Amino acid sequence: MTVLILWLLILHIVWCNALKSSSLILYGHRIVTMPAKNTKSRDQPMTAGNAVRKLVMAHAKGDGQLFQTAATDFISEERRKKHHILADDLERILSNGTAPSKVEMLTVLRPSGAELPRDKERGSLLLELFEPVYSLGEMIVDERTRAALERVIQEQRRKDLLASYGLNPVHKILFCGPPGCGKTMAAEALAKELYLPLVLVRFDAVISSYLGETAANLRRVFDFAASRPMVILFDEFDAIGKKRDDVEEHGELKRVVNAFLQMLDSFRGAAITIAATNHEKLLDTALWRRFDEVVMFQPPNESEIAELLERYLRQIGTEGIDLHISAKMLLESSHADVKRVAEDAIKFCLLSDSPRVNADLLNKAISLQKERLTLRQELN
Ligand SMILES: Nc1ncnc2c1ncn2[C@@H]1O[C@H](COP(=O)(O)OP(=O)(O)OP(=O)(O)O)[C@@H](O)[C@H]1O
Ligand SMILES: [Mg+2]
Repeated sequence: MTVLILWLLILHIVWCNALKSSSLILYGHRIVTMPAKNTKSRDQPMTAGNAVRKLVMAHAKGDGQLFQTAATDFISEERRKKHHILADDLERILSNGTAPSKVEMLTVLRPSGAELPRDKERGSLLLELFEPVYSLGEMIVDERTRAALERVIQEQRRKDLLASYGLNPVHKILFCGPPGCGKTMAAEALAKELYLPLVLVRFDAVISSYLGETAANLRRVFDFAASRPMVILFDEFDAIGKKRDDVEEHGELKRVVNAFLQMLDSFRGAAITIAATNHEKLLDTALWRRFDEVVMFQPPNESEIAELLERYLRQIGTEGIDLHISAKMLLESSHADVKRVAEDAIKFCLLSDSPRVNADLLNKAISLQKERLTLRQELN
């Protein structure tokens, strides 16, 4: 394991040197506008060189204690430079030499002593910690949405490279679209792909009837988000994001929206902040500008519905069904609706002791969904 860490460090130095030379070329062209961050990165090889010297010395002497100390110092230095991916990897290798388990990913929030924030008056938790289950590959979304999500992942994975040119990865994102089309699922998928914990902001707990306490709760949430890398989802964000000149709005709510905007603007933590809404038209335009990326989620089209049905019915199997015909009948349904139709069809199949889902069973489930759609339209 010692040798592995040494190799990683040596590779890191070679990489830093490569970056340094490209920075110098840049200097030749833009010496005045070069951001401070790049100037700082010129010191990197020195620090890393000293660290490797210490590590090699410890290895040569066979001094395990010294090796641990030197490695820990190096990790702290890398974390200070916001090279979280490298620091996390090294920490993991140093502790047990394996990839993080899901449980480890969640407990990663605790070693800093960072407690989950609570509402002062009621003592209720302002956040919930989730173990991400879905990956991006499990999502059925259109090309544009997938490209936007992949861009976030790619920029986050290469954030050290971007930082060396004074650039930030996309990290303030707005998810828009109707219910059940994958906003929460996508936040989860981003967390899973980036090996980060998913933290869900509980707006029912954040909004307090005590004057000023809602803004204080938001501050606690943002402070927590600044404490460690994570994906933090402000779900059903409309609760505070509604148009600020809405006549029904209470004065306190206006202050909260302003406080939220300011906190989002000044937020410099490593967390990826996502706000999700299904009422994007109601959102204040000032709010849109605060995000680096706006991702739209649409209801599935015919072929996507057929793909969803195929996926969800695969476990039990189908007979005599043309899924594209069924998909046509389900147009306007959300992904979650289609999943429910498939689950209903499976239940009908099991309870009628049929070996597979046939057209009658699936049509029965589709009829139920159509009734639900009609009811929903009447209620809106
Ligand atoms: N794009 C998708 N691909 C595959 N399955 C999906 C997709 N979107 C949603 N689902 C299924 O529907 C469920 C509910 O979706 P999700 O909670 O992400 O919707 P949402 O857009 O966040 O809705 P809401 O606005 O009500 O919060 C998911 O857990 C998943 O099973
Ligand atoms: Mg949701």
